[in-house]
Amino acid sequence: MTLLHTDLGLGPVHRGKVRDCYDLGDRMLIVSTDRISAFDWILPTPIPDKGRVLTAISSFWFSWLGVEHHLITTDVESMDLPAATNLEPLAGRSMLVRKARVVPFECVVRGWLAGSGLKEYREAGTVCGIQLPAGLRPGDRLPEPIFTPATKATSGHDENVSYEVMHEAVGPIADTLRAQSLDIYCRAAEYAAERGIVLADTKFEFGQADNGQLILVDEVLTPDSSRFWPQEEAGHGQVPSSFDKQFVRDWLEGTDWDKSSPPPPLPEEIVAETRRKYLEAYRRLTGQELPV
Ligand SMILES: Nc1ncnc2c1ncn2[C@@H]1O[C@H](COP(=O)(O)OP(=O)(O)OP(=O)(O)O)[C@@H](O)[C@H]1O
Ligand SMILES: [Mg+2]
Repeated sequence: MTLLHTDLGLGPVHRGKVRDCYDLGDRMLIVSTDRISAFDWILPTPIPDKGRVLTAISSFWFSWLGVEHHLITTDVESMDLPAATNLEPLAGRSMLVRKARVVPFECVVRGWLAGSGLKEYREAGTVCGIQLPAGLRPGDRLPEPIFTPATKATSGHDENVSYEVMHEAVGPIADTLRAQSLDIYCRAAEYAAERGIVLADTKFEFGQADNGQLILVDEVLTPDSSRFWPQEEAGHGQVPSSFDKQFVRDWLEGTDWDKSSPPPPLPEEIVAETRRKYLEAYRRLTGQELPV
């Protein structure tokens, strides 16, 4: 089943590009739809099962990582939602989470050179102000993963900031956030590499629970919050194509779409290939088939 949009009437809703988030008081319901974005636009055509793959991947990592996190359940039957709620479209794509006070910084970890990091490296030899050795090629592995926080912009693009700026704003918990982010990234990247996926970089969010405890929130280590590369393409001097969105981006680049007006609908075969890629990411990571 494909889901483009929800309107559950469950209280205040925040719609991101991909997820619909319902504020339930001390909890939140995060529903991953099948919307897909590219070049900062939500495309008019959904990718069937994408939201289920993203939810299943986050859920997999939350339990694999063994760190304190916000996920209560992905089982819609046990969420105690109002009786009138139609659970069917939500099944497999919803997370009931503990609402937290979200730290207003994105905890980005980069292990490979790409994106805004590559751009800055070419101009200044640094990534987010961190000096790197000369001679790295696009898409190369960094000598060691680096922590490069960004502000959570309420509108427009997130802005990279130095660790010092983050420390100034949040105080000593910055140390904890950096250490936790690097530790989680390193463990997950090692695991993914054994399964044919390079986690080039990723973004974590943390929040403070009611009891003051720092917990991992949002989605975690999904292709939407990270760069997933096929292992076989990494380290050859070029930035690999994204594991999941490659077909969509390539196809859009081949049309006459100007990227500043609403994007065109995707053809059926691009949708099908992209869907297969998401399912393959899940299969490679977990060794299991997502039931569809
Ligand atoms: N446990 C939690 N408690 C409170 N807020 C949370 C929790 N987990 C995630 N969030 C917040 O929920 C929001 C999810 O929004 P989402 O990422 O879907 O859209 P967005 O960030 O506004 O836009 P985009 O789609 O471009 O990322 C984020 O602001 C995130 O910080
Ligand atoms: Mg977001």
